[in-house]
Amino acid sequence: MSDIVNVDYSTQIPNNVNLTDDRQVLRALERWHPGYIDWWKTMGPEGFQEALVYLRTAVSVDPKGWAKFDYVKMPQYRWGILLAPQEEGRKIPFGQHYGEPAWQEVPGEYRAMLRRLVVIQGDTEPASVEQQRHLGKTAPSLYDMRNVFQVNVEEGRHLWAMVYILQKYFGRDGREEAEQLLQRRSGDLDKPRMLGAFNEATPDWLSFHMFTFFTDRDGKMQLESLAQSGFDPLSRTCRFMLTEEAHHMFVGETGIGRTIQRTCEAMKAAGIEDPSGITKVRDLGVIDLPTIQKKLNLHYSLSLDLFGSEVSTNAANAFNASLKGRFQETKIEDDHKLENSTYPVLKLVDGEIKRVDEPALTAINMRLRDDYTADCQRGLDRWNKIIDRVGVNFRFQLPHVAFHRQIGEFKDVKASPSGELLDGSSWNNHKDKWLPSKDDGDFIQSLMRQVVEPGNFASWIAPPRVGIDNKPGDFEYVKLAA
Ligand SMILES: [Fe+2]
Ligand SMILES: [Fe+2]
Repeated sequence: MSDIVNVDYSTQIPNNVNLTDDRQVLRALERWHPGYIDWWKTMGPEGFQEALVYLRTAVSVDPKGWAKFDYVKMPQYRWGILLAPQEEGRKIPFGQHYGEPAWQEVPGEYRAMLRRLVVIQGDTEPASVEQQRHLGKTAPSLYDMRNVFQVNVEEGRHLWAMVYILQKYFGRDGREEAEQLLQRRSGDLDKPRMLGAFNEATPDWLSFHMFTFFTDRDGKMQLESLAQSGFDPLSRTCRFMLTEEAHHMFVGETGIGRTIQRTCEAMKAAGIEDPSGITKVRDLGVIDLPTIQKKLNLHYSLSLDLFGSEVSTNAANAFNASLKGRFQETKIEDDHKLENSTYPVLKLVDGEIKRVDEPALTAINMRLRDDYTADCQRGLDRWNKIIDRVGVNFRFQLPHVAFHRQIGEFKDVKASPSGELLDGSSWNNHKDKWLPSKDDGDFIQSLMRQVVEPGNFASWIAPPRVGIDNKPGDFEYVKLAA
């Protein structure tokens, strides 16, 4: 019997989807498994495959107690297939099929569109593992090292989640796509990952924390909108992924928060009042606030590109087809079909940035991006509170959406972080003030030294307020192989 809450660990692939009675899918997954392990060993965390890591593993989808913590060698992590429990009588919450019973099988007319949505989501999961594979070597503490590995194994599980959907519901072409997901590589010239931000390097820990704050948060928004899907298995798998995703954003937000705190405290202790006195601040072995702002500008703008064009017929089609909804769709009070409504979109009109009302259907990406921006802003507000508490005079700000864009309405113009349009030469004169320069990168790199004594932290980051799983400050989160 299948048990939708507890996970069956008797099979090679832990699951709560009754794989034992689903021979064909079980066989497809078992055939895919060695390639996955091979990918993990070659593209996963470099140099730590033998380390014992204090990881959480999902053992249930019960929100009250879904994970257990234990020491695990990463290649032996139990990557499972876990779907949130099926909601009795769930109705499609938006689009043309609004109010119809949710689909348990792929609707034939939308097969290609649905497969593409699943593949794009699936491709981001292994990409971030590849991007982060060198970070263990410069981890500022065992606590942080454990966190990056936790994020990595869960991104691996998210790949499994998407591969299950492909193999179970899309037959042969699904199996081919699942294979391709193991072939593409982040940053590879011939076979890159599908989306831009997932081909960028993650060279240091500040980048990693920015990535988990900004880029994983795009992931959260995408999962939130797929969790609304009329295709019920996708909705259920995304709902459970969101449970894990919350930790990734916690790692990002607190990682940057701890960095800011350390910088401000060091400035105070040294009697430095002016945050723009970069050299003096850097001499303290901490990262100056203006450089953190530049990193923020970079990662926010790269992540905005992930939402696609502001005005998009693809997004309209996916919404209309009841495949991909809006953030918190069921809490929005409107007709959930958007046939006659509009949504304000920032556009370039005659060389000026203007707010224009567009049909709400084609502005779906824009709306999701606005929700994302609001979510990011709340994180910035919390960082600014840290600065205030220590008593330093500085504020982090999100750059304007026209700043440093490669996709959408503003891809062909240059704009300052405050949204002022610039010509090419003034952009070039200023860009090192707004985006990390090579110098900034070198400086950050110079601070990246591995710290492995339990309870110790690198100079540039404050310890966390509480440990993972309530462990004490000097807990050995990673036992490195001898
Ligand atoms: Fe993920
Ligand atoms: Fe994530």
